[in-house]
Amino acid sequence: MKFFLDTADIKEIREAHDLGLIDGVTTNPSLVAKTGKPFHKVAEEILKVVDGPISLEVVARDTSHMIKEARILSKIHKNVVPKIPLTREGLKAVKVLSTEGISINQTLCFSATQALLSAKAGAAYISPFIGRLDDISHDGLQLIQDIVTIYQNYGFQTEVLVASIRHPLHVLEAAKMGAHVATMPFKVLEQLINHPLTDMGLEKFLKDWEKVPGNKIV
Ligand code: G3P
Repeated sequence: MKFFLDTADIKEIREAHDLGLIDGVTTNPSLVAKTGKPFHKVAEEILKVVDGPISLEVVARDTSHMIKEARILSKIHKNVVPKIPLTREGLKAVKVLSTEGISINQTLCFSATQALLSAKAGAAYISPFIGRLDDISHDGLQLIQDIVTIYQNYGFQTEVLVASIRHPLHVLEAAKMGAHVATMPFKVLEQLINHPLTDMGLEKFLKDWEKVPGNKIV
């Protein structure tokens, strides 16, 4: 399973990158706005740190301008994956751009039928927002299972990029289902690392080590 960081905060991206476990980054206009920095500056910073797919979102709403923006974004750097919303106009844009060989992350997916259309249009990634579905009492993880099944049934190459992840169980269940990518906030990445029994176990081991005078590794 690939791990992407779902943030535009360069400090978090640097820290996660130092772990050596981050394969890419996803951003959206809200995440960029939180940094207080202009879009191009944020994009430049992220591209310098992470050598993997970096999702940058278009802001146009009609097909021709989405295509124009996505082409510009894809020329910034080989790692840029333009992000296009899953609207009627967005599907048309994905069809054109994928035919040109530009990898697109189709975002704001909330149903399996939307995901099916996106795969048919040739998206490289589909981003189902599972936390936002959970928020309105729909089962976000069931959507991941449905999409994985449909894509496997027909051999679609589109990768399932689980987005709007809120906690470690989202990552665990999506991994069991065989989703290709999980994009998560920095906080969730940290939650995946930490376990109280690891901390307690380590403390006990080190105390026992100190009980024997003259103990040394080499
Ligand atoms: O990348 C977009 C997505 O992950 C948004 O998450 O927490 O705003 O629902 P959230």
